[in-house]
Amino acid sequence: MNDKELVAHEVLGLVKNNMTVGLGTGSTANLFIEALAKKIKAESLNIAVVASSTVSQLKAQEAGLNYISLDQISEIDLYVDGADEITKELEILKGRGYDLVREKLLAQSSKSFIVIGDKSKIVSKIGENYPIPVEITPIAWKITKNIIENIAENCVLRPNAAGDAFAITSYGNYVLDCEFKYEDLSKLANEISSIPGVFEHGIFLNLAKVALIANDGVIIKYN
Ligand code: 5RP
Repeated sequence: MNDKELVAHEVLGLVKNNMTVGLGTGSTANLFIEALAKKIKAESLNIAVVASSTVSQLKAQEAGLNYISLDQISEIDLYVDGADEITKELEILKGRGYDLVREKLLAQSSKSFIVIGDKSKIVSKIGENYPIPVEITPIAWKITKNIIENIAENCVLRPNAAGDAFAITSYGNYVLDCEFKYEDLSKLANEISSIPGVFEHGIFLNLAKVALIANDGVIIKYN
C-alpha cells in the first residue's frame, strides 16, 4: 500500500453507520471513495454521500454509492478531502480541482472535516509550492483580476485540462492562480474575499479538524 492508499484507508475508521459523508476531489480523495464503497458493501452500511465536484460525483455514482445532491442537505457529518498544501498549524490550501466554492461549502457544513495527504503536502507557509487559486465571476473577470493584482505578485487565468479554453467551475466561474507576498495569511484571506467578483479562494483556515498525513508508511496527525 502506498502512502496515499494508507491514509485513505486510515480515515475509513471515522465512517459510522447512517452518516452523510462529503467526498473530496483528487487522487487521494478518489482512493477514499473506492475504499468507502468497499467498506459500505462489506459492512452493509447506510451511508449517503455528497460530492465536492462533478468529478467526485461521477466517481461516487460509478462506485455505486448513495449519492444525494447538495440542495437536499443542510449539514454533513464527515467531509474527507485531500489538499495541495498543509501546515502544522492546520492551514490548508486547496483548489487544483477548480471547485473552491463547493469544497468550502462542504468543509464549512461538516461536523468534521478531515484532510488527508502524503508528506509532499507538508509546507511551512501556504503558497510555498502552489499559487493560491481564486474562483471569480466570468462577468468582468479582467476587472476582478486587475483588482486582485493590486495585492498579488502575479495572477494567471487557469486553462482547462485540454489547454484550449479557460477552466470552468461547477458554478460557471473562472479560476485565477495567484502568487502573493504576505505576512498574515488570515488577513490575506480576508482581503481576497472582500474583492468584488471573487466567489471563493483556496485558503482554508479554521475549517479542518485534523490532517492525517502518511509519511513513508507512518501516519502523522496535525490537529
Ligand atoms: C482539489 C483539491 C485536491 O484535494 C488537491 O488538489 C489534492 O489532490 P491530490 O490528492 O490528487 O494530490 O484541493 O481541488
